[in-house]
Amino acid sequence: MRACLLSPTVFAACSPSLARWAARPGLAWDGSRAPALSNALFPPGPAPWHRSRADLLPAFPAGRPLATRQPAWVPPAATATGISFHDADAYDRMTGAWSRLVGLAFLDWLSPAPGLRWLDVGCGSGVFTGLVAQRCAPARLHGIDPEPAQVAYARSRPDARGAQFRQGDATALPYAPASFDVAVMALVLFYLPDPARGVAQMVRVVAPGGLVGAYHWDLAAGGSPLAVLGRALAQADVDTPTAPSAWVADEDAVRQLWVDAGLEDVQTRHITVRREFRSFDALWEVLQLGASTAPVLRGLSCRQREAVRENVRGLLGLPPGPGGAVTCTARAIAVKGRVGRRASPG
Ligand SMILES: C[S@@+](CC[C@H](N)C(=O)[O-])C[C@H]1O[C@@H](n2cnc3c(N)ncnc32)[C@H](O)[C@@H]1O
Repeated sequence: MRACLLSPTVFAACSPSLARWAARPGLAWDGSRAPALSNALFPPGPAPWHRSRADLLPAFPAGRPLATRQPAWVPPAATATGISFHDADAYDRMTGAWSRLVGLAFLDWLSPAPGLRWLDVGCGSGVFTGLVAQRCAPARLHGIDPEPAQVAYARSRPDARGAQFRQGDATALPYAPASFDVAVMALVLFYLPDPARGVAQMVRVVAPGGLVGAYHWDLAAGGSPLAVLGRALAQADVDTPTAPSAWVADEDAVRQLWVDAGLEDVQTRHITVRREFRSFDALWEVLQLGASTAPVLRGLSCRQREAVRENVRGLLGLPPGPGGAVTCTARAIAVKGRVGRRASPG
């Protein structure tokens, strides 16, 4: 069995359909008015595919502290090309499964009381919503996402039965002020062209004393589970799209975002998760489902795709042949803060 620290991601931007959705005028509020209310998992020592953090940050001048208000880290070859989350089943098998692992640790960290009103912003296929439903005994549970296929998939999840899902945009949440006790974005913030606006919306809809949280891949440290594929594509001279706000995938940047939004008791942490694949073939099958990279892979010839596959194998330090189980590691940054008791909603 081998473990891998996945290297820097080349991620993706919002799809044109998301942009069109975001441009829709006035999304109606749904009428609800409830009362206010690295650890040891990383292999010791540098693995053959491991590069130091400094190596991963070519645009980051040595000796300069991480700026927090300004993007401190600009991913290499950033291109704001499209990504589509229309294949919810593929999403659920690749990133959804990873998100579930992070979400479990994130919920332990939030340690929420039962009976709260929850909002999952950018709920996608409903992975995190399902965790909240199963583990947090919510009084009310809403999920919202602009992608119709994801919303339909989320509605069909047995583990999220009882949750209410709807289409909508994180930067124009169709809910009344103070209508939730907890709002969370799971793997969403870096897709928003204006993350501060998305955070402000969560603060608006959460009641004083409530929690606003998020987690997303530690892109600056190569924490995305798709990072190794991004590198393999780069080795083959193939560009991949980058998230529009990848700069927010940095611990200092996201902490400052929460502080700037007026949140109190702001805390951040890293969450490292592992996922085991029974073979390299099984890993490769799932890797090809990444929402940002699947269209890129589909555009390659068979020969190019095979070269990328072998690049992945090489980056993981795996020998040719079927081999045994492969364990991959991904790392997320999590953030949480409280809406001030004196905050005046709205
Ligand atoms: C990586 S997925 C995360 C899905 C889910 N939260 C999870 O943890 O698996 C990113 C999600 O963000 C959604 N998204 C992108 N732009 C958004 C926006 N402006 N408002 C709300 N959601 C958005 C996408 O549709 C997609 O479902």
